Amino acid sequence: MLCIVDTMSTSNQNTADPVIAARNLRKSFGDVEAVKDLSFSVAPGQVVGLLGPNGAGKTTTVNMLATLTSIDDGSASIGGFDVATQPDLVRQLIGLAGQAAAVDEKLTARENLELFGRLYKLPSSERKQRADELIEQFDMADFADRVAGTHSGGQRRRLDVVAALVADPPALFLDEPTTGLDPRSRAELWDAIGKLAAGGTAIVLTTQYLEEADHLADEVLIIDKGTVIASGTPETLKRSLEGDVLEIHVDEGEMPGALELIGPVDGLVSDEEARQIGVPVGDDVARSLEILRRLEDGGISISDFQLRRPTLDDVFLNLTGAPTEKAEVPA
Ligand SMILES: Nc1ncnc2c1ncn2[C@@H]1O[C@H](COP(=O)(O)OP(=O)(O)O)[C@@H](O)[C@H]1O
Ligand SMILES: [Mg+2]
Repeated sequence: MLCIVDTMSTSNQNTADPVIAARNLRKSFGDVEAVKDLSFSVAPGQVVGLLGPNGAGKTTTVNMLATLTSIDDGSASIGGFDVATQPDLVRQLIGLAGQAAAVDEKLTARENLELFGRLYKLPSSERKQRADELIEQFDMADFADRVAGTHSGGQRRRLDVVAALVADPPALFLDEPTTGLDPRSRAELWDAIGKLAAGGTAIVLTTQYLEEADHLADEVLIIDKGTVIASGTPETLKRSLEGDVLEIHVDEGEMPGALELIGPVDGLVSDEEARQIGVPVGDDVARSLEILRRLEDGGISISDFQLRRPTLDDVFLNLTGAPTEKAEVPA
């Protein structure tokens, strides 16, 4: 859009500067410190992933950057414009696909995109053309002319994301874009997001899925209780988290004996109620066998065991020493 080019050219930015910059952001709601001292930046074409469980502060962070929630302390800029003092300019540079769907269920995908074009004040001829372009670019032809109320979950989320692109914003915020999607829809949306980054859009993506951050993000911030507890490329983070977890379920009354036989292990998780023990075993299959043999020799009655990949819960446990709170089911 022309207005974006104009505003960008007056901001003394060059392409090496970050499109999105957050500096020491803070936000509290009453006693809850939702975001504490969060800083990061996103360059053109870069995807930064905010990875964390429910309540970590991801949506609050995105909403502050997108001018929807006021900033208590710290500052943020988009394309060089200050989010707090120049919100109108900032809004011309951003697209947001939030957790709550913004599309109108009674309109078709195409009509929804045209409506967004009107909200962004595109002339009516351009609105149609832009909708056509997006439908083609993001493979939406088979559901473009069906009302959104009849779309599958994956189609709906794709429309949400694409609706945020109508004004071709240089900065895009995607808040848990694939939560609740089946694997195939997720993969399709991942493709669409990858295309956007390749086209130069600076993207902030929030997710609860390690795998998603791994697939899409150039840089990941792992967030817990409003602070960054680890950050880096997916590669470096994975290296620190690699290895499997041996999960053992024991029969009633066997937990104390089992824990004693296993002994102290870094990152071990035990759940008395579920009679379940998780032992990080790295990539060493012999270690799992050795633990199981030790329990068997000790006469512990095992009801079940499995070797599994670390989950986000294991990552948190590893980094914080405390399990994540159980995920709340959104209303
Ligand atoms: N409008 C609000 N009023 C009160 N508390 C809020 C509000 N929005 C978020 N919170 C609280 O702030 C914390 C972070 O929430 P949120 O940013 O939504 O986390 P996430 O998106 O990572 O799940 C949570 O404890 C949440 O309950
Ligand atoms: Mg959220």
